Amino acid sequence: MTINSEYMFFKLGRNKELAKAEISTIFEKAGINRKINYFQWKEFLFVNIEKKEEQNILRKIRETGSVVKVGCCFAKCGSETEVREIIPDKINQIINKFSGKKEKIKFSINLQIEQLKQKTISEIVRKEILKIAKDRRVEVKIIPKKGYSIELSPYQYHKENMPKRGVELVIFGIKSKIYLGETKWVTNPFFDIKLDEGRPERLFTHGTSIKIARSLINLTNTKNDGKIVDPFSGTGTLLIVGLLQSYDVIGFEKDPKCVRVAKTNIRWAIDKYNIKKDWKIYKNDARDMHKIINEKVDAIVTEPYLGPFLKNLPDLEEGKDIIHELEKLYAKVLYSCSQILKDDSRVVIIFPFYEYPDKTKLSINLERVINGLSLELVEKTLHFNVNFPISIGREHNIISRQIVILKKNSMKQ
Ligand SMILES: C[S@@+](CC[C@H](N)C(=O)[O-])C[C@H]1O[C@@H](n2cnc3c(N)ncnc32)[C@H](O)[C@@H]1O
Repeated sequence: MTINSEYMFFKLGRNKELAKAEISTIFEKAGINRKINYFQWKEFLFVNIEKKEEQNILRKIRETGSVVKVGCCFAKCGSETEVREIIPDKINQIINKFSGKKEKIKFSINLQIEQLKQKTISEIVRKEILKIAKDRRVEVKIIPKKGYSIELSPYQYHKENMPKRGVELVIFGIKSKIYLGETKWVTNPFFDIKLDEGRPERLFTHGTSIKIARSLINLTNTKNDGKIVDPFSGTGTLLIVGLLQSYDVIGFEKDPKCVRVAKTNIRWAIDKYNIKKDWKIYKNDARDMHKIINEKVDAIVTEPYLGPFLKNLPDLEEGKDIIHELEKLYAKVLYSCSQILKDDSRVVIIFPFYEYPDKTKLSINLERVINGLSLELVEKTLHFNVNFPISIGREHNIISRQIVILKKNSMKQ
């Protein structure tokens, strides 16, 4: 066990590459640019951090869209006896933190450990919790009531109000070691549901999901307080997520109906969440952004128009035509982006592609759309070795999507 450094663990969402790319950005935003040690174990990423970095990371992690859970390991034990020695201190700390309230203090036990060892570890932890609670005369609730272990889903975690009522202990059995950890943050689905379903107006064909919006904005690696632009702002989801994260936002959208809906939704969000940032939506074509705004912005981030709505995969020739038309649109929009973007700032954009049963793939030719522009491709994350573009699955049935990141480099033309 060391005092100045520790492992943080990150539970990656379904799209593990996206989650790792997002964690890398969070580390950069928290000012961590050194080489860091890490390893991936199942759906968890373990990262060696310095103790003083923990708070910065935890403050920023809520800006991600694809990370599920984060915690800190407080000990690495070689045997069950060591677990028995170390766990009482932690239980006492937790009781100190949560005592004085009327409700029982909750301890949830999550064993990421082979089945055979679960009984022993669970019994050690339970016994200690009950013993200390009795000595200190506090009431506790252990989750699960029966059985050895439970992995609380984000819904359960927040339904149990764990951030205010107690701690989830997470115990990992990795090779011959036992890592003792506690959860510090879990994504809150109730917040997103309220934001999504509370909006006065929705148009189902025009929306980016809240989680994807959060991921895209995070990947711009822009300081909060900066100004971000969505050139295809639709009903304003991405703009609202941006405002909630303290960015000033500008949208461009050519469909008047979408502009009206976006404005209504933004006004609602500003009122509900007491937002103090500036926003503006132009009822204009994304290709004309540089003719309209005469200031430099910190990031451009968007899920653009992805082609016509199709019931079936287009035949190859039709697919090629659609992609070709989109390339022309994107090249013009990216030219406009390059004109309004600050140096070293990023465009984070989703590009569509069609994938055929015989594995033929029709996608946007990146070199072609940025040819002659002062934009270059970002190919890798700083940490964790993730390559861009990152595919984000087939949510849109027919069209597959990938996240592309470009960086303004005024030396390149
Ligand atoms: C996928 S939606 C955008 C979703 C949006 N980013 C959000 O956060 O909800 C694409 C939008 O682009 C708009 N659009 C299509 N072509 C455009 C253009 N040339 N200029 C501006 N908006 C355009 C469409 O009307 C549509 O609302």
